[in-house]
Amino acid sequence: MNQKIIPSPDQERAFRNALGSFATGVTVITSKADIGHVGITANSFSSVSLDPALVLWSVAKGSVRHASFTTGAPFAIHVMARSQDSIATGFAENGLSFENVEFLENPEGIRVIPGCLAVFECTTEALHDAGDHTIVVGRVQRFSHQPGEPLLFAQGKYGRFI
Ligand SMILES: Cc1cc2nc3c(=O)[nH]c(=O)nc-3n(C[C@H](O)[C@H](O)[C@H](O)COP(=O)(O)O)c2cc1C
Repeated sequence: MNQKIIPSPDQERAFRNALGSFATGVTVITSKADIGHVGITANSFSSVSLDPALVLWSVAKGSVRHASFTTGAPFAIHVMARSQDSIATGFAENGLSFENVEFLENPEGIRVIPGCLAVFECTTEALHDAGDHTIVVGRVQRFSHQPGEPLLFAQGKYGRFI
């Protein structure tokens, strides 16, 4: 039987706050689905393996974008620079919000945003069911990176080093 550790809304809030004390970078992940080109802001990104080159992120099952990111299609993970907070805000609000965003298309037809600190262009290696999220494991096929100040996220807010 599934035992609930978080029985009340107060405890759920406390759990979210506790998780939010872990500072992360911010990524925007782009892919192509039936509805067209899609993007999502995600801080669940993590490196997994050097050989083979694997990374992961997780997408909420409650998101209207869940179906678009779990088709097994290729995707691109962008590590956002400090100056790109408006792009992150845009893709947190709307998955189709490429309107004010510059992009190129990679050979797989996935939109790649220039000016990010790093881009990992991936094929889907595996999808793992994980509670109210799906963990997406990507095999990195191509990557690029450049120096710069990262956009950070902690305690529900964007921020920066020093
Ligand atoms: C900093 C930040 C990190 C986020 N990380 C994730 C994530 O890792 N996975 C996820 O599914 N949603 C994440 N979200 C939420 C999505 O970006 C987006 O707001 C959500 O999918 C909106 O709901 P909808 O897809 O139903 O429109 C994050 C949002 C922010 C602002």
